[in-house]
Amino acid sequence: MATTEVRVSPEDVKQAASQVHERIPEPSVAVIFGASGDLTKRKLLPALFHLEQAGLLPEQFRIVGVARRNLANSFAEDMREGIVEFGGVDKNDGKLDEFVKRIAYHAMDFDNEQGYASLQELLSQFDRDYGTRGNRLFYLATAPDYFADIVHRLGSHGMAKPEVGTVRVIIEKPFGHDLESAKELNDDVNTVFGENQIFRIDHYLGKETVQNVLVFRFANGIFEPIWNRNFVDHVQITAAENIGIEGRGPFYEKAGALRDVMQNHIMELLSFVTMEPPASFAAEAVRREKIKLWTSIKPLNIFDCVRGQYGAGIIDNQMVKGYREEDRVDPQSQTETYAAVRLEIDNWRWAGVPFYMRAGKRLAKRVTEITIQFKQPPMLLFGTHMHGPCTDIQPNRITMRIQPDEGISLRFGAKVPGPQMAVCPVVMDFNYAHAFGSSSANGYERLLLDAMLGDATLFAHRDGVETTWALYTPVLDAWATKYPQTFPNYAAGTWGPECGDELIGRDGHTWHSVEVSPKV
Ligand code: BG6
Repeated sequence: MATTEVRVSPEDVKQAASQVHERIPEPSVAVIFGASGDLTKRKLLPALFHLEQAGLLPEQFRIVGVARRNLANSFAEDMREGIVEFGGVDKNDGKLDEFVKRIAYHAMDFDNEQGYASLQELLSQFDRDYGTRGNRLFYLATAPDYFADIVHRLGSHGMAKPEVGTVRVIIEKPFGHDLESAKELNDDVNTVFGENQIFRIDHYLGKETVQNVLVFRFANGIFEPIWNRNFVDHVQITAAENIGIEGRGPFYEKAGALRDVMQNHIMELLSFVTMEPPASFAAEAVRREKIKLWTSIKPLNIFDCVRGQYGAGIIDNQMVKGYREEDRVDPQSQTETYAAVRLEIDNWRWAGVPFYMRAGKRLAKRVTEITIQFKQPPMLLFGTHMHGPCTDIQPNRITMRIQPDEGISLRFGAKVPGPQMAVCPVVMDFNYAHAFGSSSANGYERLLLDAMLGDATLFAHRDGVETTWALYTPVLDAWATKYPQTFPNYAAGTWGPECGDELIGRDGHTWHSVEVSPKV
């Protein structure tokens, strides 16, 4: 398939960037609970350092890692390594030494009252020594079981609503494991923090390409008129990973693909692709449209939700083990590592358009993409024998590549040069890295900055979280009562179980991402 590239002028990029005001947050301390975990080293600290490099952090900014182990002597240096290794930062970067000096560590058990009292003292000391003015950003990156307890103790120590300063709390996913637990957690957190202090994070919303879905739809005039049931045949969303569970056996055993990725990341992608234009790009307006969209989804039919679990297989020419053989996983485990869902949205824009979504571990390659497939032209003018060979007439398709190889492509038919009316699909491709250069940002930069600025547009609201859990909880309940007898039902390194192909095949379609993304 022939491909052409979209070009971007560097002057235009400069001009666009110069029109945006840099937003620098107030002085503050970021306090990361669960700081000894991977997330802090791999994502949070590199993201904070990227903000520092971009001049977006205030001078009076400090970081405190909180965890149980005594890491006081090694934490800051360990974070330096993380910034270099995972943040793509030169170890001789001129700003690194100063940044590492701002990192402190506080060892405590999350249920230890004395630990909170001494944390509070430490933070007050920072206010005096570094001018952080009582502003706090608490980041809960612990196992979810600790969320409610930490929040309550912050409250009882007067750290949630102090007299001086602004306090915000970021809560990592998973936010509950079903509707009831999500409600309970929301109630717990809401008794201590106001909703405007709570930032429920979904790191997919920090990804440039995910935000670009809204820009593509609402900053351009030509796509919205065709973005509806009159023109769209169906939509596919794939979040495929070739990695396994990466040592997270105990977590994943309780989660599974539906809870881990489908209920949150994929539903966020779905909402961006399908919601109505919000009145403004402000938190309230965007959230309202998302919730309206999610509540318009027809209750899921259990036959439209399928699951799989990987067995041993080959990835990158290496033999890898099956899920049941992974560390700290039940050898008889019934946890799904793949889920696919077909749903319909019962509103004026989308009635009758099927949406197919799938997520899985140990699939053939890592790819997250959204494909909008348009209807065939009403008449195949070039498909008749009178006009000679019509080789390959295929419906138009817009593919948004969220990762890797970030970009957007449009497929359309073009005449093959020559005396006959031969038609061949070609692809017009916009590739982020080619257009704007590659970036080492990991998505947390934008979200951390927004949380420090108090902008919740790209965070989940309690109503939204509960709405998506309400959709999936009946499926999870049904799955919990009836285990499939077929696990493992796909080999690592393949595109998932047959039931996933059958799900979409029933409507006469096939999954798109099986194709290789176009290369320029
Ligand atoms: C996390 C899930 O939320 O998202 C992981 O818990 C998954 O299981 C990850 O691997 C995928 O994120 P990304 O950014 O690599 O697509």
